[in-house]
Amino acid sequence: MKRFAGKVALITGGGGALGRASALRFAEEGARVVIADVDLERAEAVADEIDGAAIAFRADVTQAADCEAMVAAAQNAFGRLDVLFANAGVGGESAEFVELPIDEWDRVMDVNLRGMVLSCKAAAPALIDAGGGSIVLMGSSTGGWDTILGSGPYMTSKEAAKALARNLALELARFRIRVNAVCPGIIETPLSFRQAAGDPAAWQRFFDRFAERIPLRRVGQPADVAATVAFLASDDARHITGASLLIDGGQTLQSWSNAPDSPYPSG
Ligand SMILES: NC(=O)c1ccc[n+]([C@@H]2O[C@H](COP(=O)([O-])OP(=O)(O)OC[C@H]3O[C@@H](n4cnc5c(N)ncnc54)[C@H](O)[C@@H]3O)[C@@H](O)[C@H]2O)c1
Repeated sequence: MKRFAGKVALITGGGGALGRASALRFAEEGARVVIADVDLERAEAVADEIDGAAIAFRADVTQAADCEAMVAAAQNAFGRLDVLFANAGVGGESAEFVELPIDEWDRVMDVNLRGMVLSCKAAAPALIDAGGGSIVLMGSSTGGWDTILGSGPYMTSKEAAKALARNLALELARFRIRVNAVCPGIIETPLSFRQAAGDPAAWQRFFDRFAERIPLRRVGQPADVAATVAFLASDDARHITGASLLIDGGQTLQSWSNAPDSPYPSG
């Protein structure tokens, strides 16, 4: 299926695990793709994998000038912009709220939220020029529905993605621009388990334990996220805007009430 034939998609954080999977999916479906990342080498590695039109571009989404430059690069290379996937993000250091340096709070919010806003601000005029388009924001199930101890700024930034999707959906509807958020649960990527870098056995144990507790009994894969992003960005989702879609295999349906040690009779 070539849902993006003739279209141009820009992905921030495109050199990372979920950015890469989405770039490959957009390209497979006929899009020309701009892979923007603060780490140019990672972006170039993804662009090299794409058998079609793709460029890598160095952009730090916390910098307005970089965001404007990445959009200009898309227009210069391919003549238009139809899709923005605002995906760049950092996990942040895990620390108890009372111990967390405010600089770390600011750093995470800067990349995850302000970077998303700057990307949208830069892309919106280009999407308007193209006669409409689609923006997909990267949220998280753990920010939007759940929470994790020691990850205050990450959780807050990801919850904000849902609010931003609703607000921009309303603001930009008159330009025929749809805005939605994707909210993945745990996905099998290094961001989910940095500690296991270079330890395949620990990696396997970690994700196996998660799979046991997820109702669908599997851990999400980058391709699961990419498929949802492509759906929301495509005309198949032409009547969907302001939505936040969980991609979590039911992970957030699990609650203490249903845990094996719950006092409820059905637990
Ligand atoms: N992996 C998961 O389980 C999971 C679950 C829910 C949400 N997410 C979100 O998905 C997004 C991608 O996650 P991932 O697993 O691919 O992580 P990743 O670390 O593999 O990719 C993130 C990419 O963003 C880039 N980046 C970081 N700061 C940037 C900046 N200032 N400007 C531009 N690029 C920058 C990094 O260089 C990296 O290539 C993140 O926003 C993350 O919070 C991930």
